Amino acid sequence: MNVLDIVVLAFWLMLPAYVPNNAAVLTGGGPPIDGGRTWGGKRLLGDGKTWRGTAGGILAGVGLGLVLNAIVSDVSGAIGVSLPEFPIAALLALAAGAMLGDILASFLKRRTGRERGAAFPGIDQLDFVAVSLVLTALVATDWFVEWFTVPVIVAILVLTPVLHLGTNAAAFKLGLKDEPW
Ligand code: CTP
Ligand code: MG
Repeated sequence: MNVLDIVVLAFWLMLPAYVPNNAAVLTGGGPPIDGGRTWGGKRLLGDGKTWRGTAGGILAGVGLGLVLNAIVSDVSGAIGVSLPEFPIAALLALAAGAMLGDILASFLKRRTGRERGAAFPGIDQLDFVAVSLVLTALVATDWFVEWFTVPVIVAILVLTPVLHLGTNAAAFKLGLKDEPW
């Protein structure tokens, strides 16, 4: 596989993990997950992590994955790159893992004194990748090993921060997000 094919495959594999964060921005609001609770004088997670946003994010990621499954042979044929169908366990792990990673990052941000919306370079861009990959490796091991080869994982680690910064800057410009990160 050439570099472009690997990047396309990496993007395809991660789409169900990319969409939840953006969908959460659109569906977020209502009661926060931590219910306002604090630990050491700081919020446990903060008002930026809501039940609605989390559910909306997971549903969007799984829903997109089902659409991708329906069109995988057409897309593979059209672009000449062999792309996988997503097992349902992998879809759930990719989408829920992305949301969980983002939630864990907020937990760490609050523990390190960062207010809601503060940037946490590195963590902000890769938190959700780490947790979605680990969770997928656990629940869909054979599928994970078959598709997430070392070059694919390297592509994901390079591609994700670029995409994440780009989409968040766009959401900020559109007035959907309070900060450009
Ligand atoms: N959001 C949500 N539930 C989630 C994740 C995100 O409701 N599990 C929504 C919130 O409205 C949040 C917005 O998406 O404000 C942007 O997400 P994010 O940047 O992750 O949250 P921040 O508000 O920046 O808070 P934090 O500092 O905790 O990341
Ligand atoms: Mg933020």
